[in-house]
This record gives sequence, C-alpha cells and structure tokens, in this order.
Amino acid sequence: MKTQVGIVGAGPAGLVLSHLLHLSGIESVVLEAHSRSYVEERVRAGVLEQGTADLLRETGVGERMMQQGLMHHGIELQFAGGRHRIDFAGLTGGKGVMVYAQHEVLKDLIQARLEAGGQILFDVQDVSVDELRGPKPKIRFRKNGEAKEWECDFIGGCDGFHGICRPSIPEGVLSAFEKIYPFAWLGILAEAPPSSRELIYAHHERGFALLSMRSPAISRLYLQCAPEEDIANWPDQRIWQELRTRLEVVKGWKLTEGPVLQKGITGMRSFVVEPMQYGRLFLAGDSAHIVPPTGAKGLNLAVADVRVLAAAMAEYYRTGRTDLLEGYSEKCLRRVWKVQRFSWWMTSMLHRFADDDAFDARRQLAELDYVTSSRAASQALAENYVGLPLD
Ligand code: FAD
Ligand code: PHB
Repeated sequence: MKTQVGIVGAGPAGLVLSHLLHLSGIESVVLEAHSRSYVEERVRAGVLEQGTADLLRETGVGERMMQQGLMHHGIELQFAGGRHRIDFAGLTGGKGVMVYAQHEVLKDLIQARLEAGGQILFDVQDVSVDELRGPKPKIRFRKNGEAKEWECDFIGGCDGFHGICRPSIPEGVLSAFEKIYPFAWLGILAEAPPSSRELIYAHHERGFALLSMRSPAISRLYLQCAPEEDIANWPDQRIWQELRTRLEVVKGWKLTEGPVLQKGITGMRSFVVEPMQYGRLFLAGDSAHIVPPTGAKGLNLAVADVRVLAAAMAEYYRTGRTDLLEGYSEKCLRRVWKVQRFSWWMTSMLHRFADDDAFDARRQLAELDYVTSSRAASQALAENYVGLPLD
C-alpha cells in the first residue's frame, strides 16, 4: 500500500498533521496503537493557546470548542496567603487561552478526518519504521494479526515520548537534553463546579497546587507529590484535605468538592532531542520533546511543530522545494527551547524543592512578588502563557 505521508500516532500531533495535510490536498494514513475510544477518553491537557484555538477554528474543527470551551483572559497566582491576577487580555492586546479538554480536540479531529474520507487505523500492533534515508520509507505493522506495510514519501513520527519512531533513529544521530524533577503531580477530575472562574496556580509551603477545570460542572485539580507516591495511599478524602490546605488560604474562599471521577500521578521532566529529523522521518510533539505541565504547553508545542511540518510538506508537493523540510528542525527548535525555558521557569517558581534552604524560599517568594507587581514581568508571563507568536 502507498500513501504520501505515513503518520505514527493519533495524538494531537498526528491528527492535526493529517488534518492540515488534507487541507493542502496531501494524502496521509494515521496508525494508532490504541483503540478509538481510548484515544477519545484519555484525560490529559486542557489549556489551548490563543494560536492553537485559532488554528482549530480557522481550519474548520473548532465548532464544539467555540460552543463548549471556556475562554480565559487571565490566571491567578497564589502565594504568601494572597492571590494576584495576571490580566492576559490587558497585557497582550486582548489575547487569552481556551480551556477545552485535549480528548475533546481529538474527538473533533477524528470525526473531521473520517468524514473527509481520511484513514486512521486504530489498534495496530508491532509498528516499525524502516528505510528512513531512502526515497520511499516504510511503515510496517500488524492489524488483526495480519502483517501490513505502507510505502510513503515521508513519515511523521507523532507517537509520543514512549513511541517507536525516535528509538528507530540510529545511535549517535540525536543529542538528548533532559531534566527530571524531584516531584510529580497527582491529578483528579471531579464532578464539582470550579470554585474559581480562572485557573489558580498556588505556591504553598507544603507544595504546589493547581485549580483548573473542564466545564462549568467539572473541576480538574492537581497537587505536587513525591515521584514515587502510590495513588493507593491517596483516598479521595486525603486528596480533598490536602487541596483545601494548599488552596483555601484566602479568607472566605471555599473549595467546592464533589465525586472524584478519575485520578492519577504524572512524573515531570523536560526533554529535547536535536535534530527533530532523520532522513524522511520527522519527529513532532512529545516524541521529540517533553515539558513539565506547569506552563500548559505540551499539546500546544505539538501543534506548533506540525504546523511548520505541514507547511513544509505542502511547499514540497507544490513546487518541489526541499529547503523548508530541511529547515524544519531548526525552525521548531527555536520555539521548543523558548517554551522549555518558560515551562522550567514556571515549575521552579511554583514548586517546593526538598533541598531548598531558607534563602531559596525567600528568593522564590520575591520572584512571585516581582512577577505580580511589575508590569514588565507580568507581561513576559502573559505573552508566553497565551503563546509566543508563530512565525
Ligand atoms: P501523544 O498525545 O502522546 O500521542 C501519541 C500517540 O501515539 C498516542 O495516541 C499513542 O497511543 C500513540 N502511539 C505510541 N506508540 C505508538 C506505536 N508504537 N504505534 C502506534 N501508535 C503509537 N499540554 C498542554 O498543552 N496543556 C496542558 O494543560 C497539559 N496538561 C497536561 C496534563 C497531564 C496530566 C499530562 C499527562 C499532559 C499534559 N499536557 C498538557 C501535555 C500534552 O498532553 C502532551 O504534550 C500531548 O498529548 C502531546 O501530543 P502528541 O501528539 O505529541 O503525543
Ligand atoms: C489542566 O487543566 O489539565 C492543566 C491546566 C494548566 C496546566 C496544566 C494542566 O498548567
């Protein structure tokens, strides 16, 4: 079987790439190891940068997002017993972020691809990529036990951090840069109306906490915890009590509680490989880089990568030019490193580090005080949070 672009992974990177290629008249096939229902229900990111939301809307997959998503024009930073709003709209000329769940974005993309006659093969096994430096790279896999092969012009390696594309690149080609944090996030989804109109990022002596949301009826909450923490040791009552301790610091403010629908622990790392290309294999999204979630950037960075990749491929098919494809990695990495910097900075400003001393604790509070009292510093946060310009 033959296609123009073979895409491994039906996450945000793979599905947005397939969608954008289709809009340029380029055929692709997406291969996904999990089932459609797994992909459409897995709870992950929830914050879309202005540019990500605009792209979804402008390319015809934003209808439900515009109806059900929550547009936010600021966040609250909480520290030293007080809350301070960062006014994104006022600081960035009217921009904001869209609070809309990642799996809802994926539902919209899957529906659009299938309605347009696109091919997404779910539940595939033993995926491998081969002949990456030749003119016709191959993707091999099994579907219902049967061995299959697609011959492609290009392969999109959109299979996330644990995928097979990055490890298929021969040793010595990639340089990896990594930072592992000494903490994790315990996250819950709760059937409880959010207790705040906007997200609250809370610095607390017992550790970071985040109040986020998915809808006017569903809250999403996170607590900093130890990386080796066992979720079995966190019955719902303990989670709510810890959230109250870290979030209920403002007089009269109460956290709304409700049944916990889902809970889990996520480790935190910063990771980048350079370059993001090998022959005709292009890595995009989490397969090439991971950010800690404090800046709400992972999904957005995946979308930024494939936007560059789709434009480069479209130019190749239109004119035969290869310079944009050759410049893919360099162009993406400039944004990737700025987003890494921001995500690392938000993480280090808001979390408690076990080996911090009294000096570090004072410095962290001074940083929060500066960010919330200086217009220049607030503006730098706001500009990064709503999303750096795309070109
Ligand atoms: P993925 O979403 O991981 O998709 C990769 C796909 O490839 C998966 O469907 C996987 O099943 C498939 N796959 C893997 N291996 C194979 C294989 N061998 N063959 C075929 N298919 C394969 N980001 C934000 O922007 N904002 C947020 O608010 C935010 N919050 C987050 C909260 C949590 C708790 C977590 C865990 C992440 C969060 N992120 C956030 C990060 C965001 O979810 C990821 O960065 C994003 O999913 C990356 O998209 P991707 O398409 O690159 O990879
Ligand atoms: C989320 O709602 O899941 C979320 C929001 C903001 C973050 C990370 C995750 O920084």
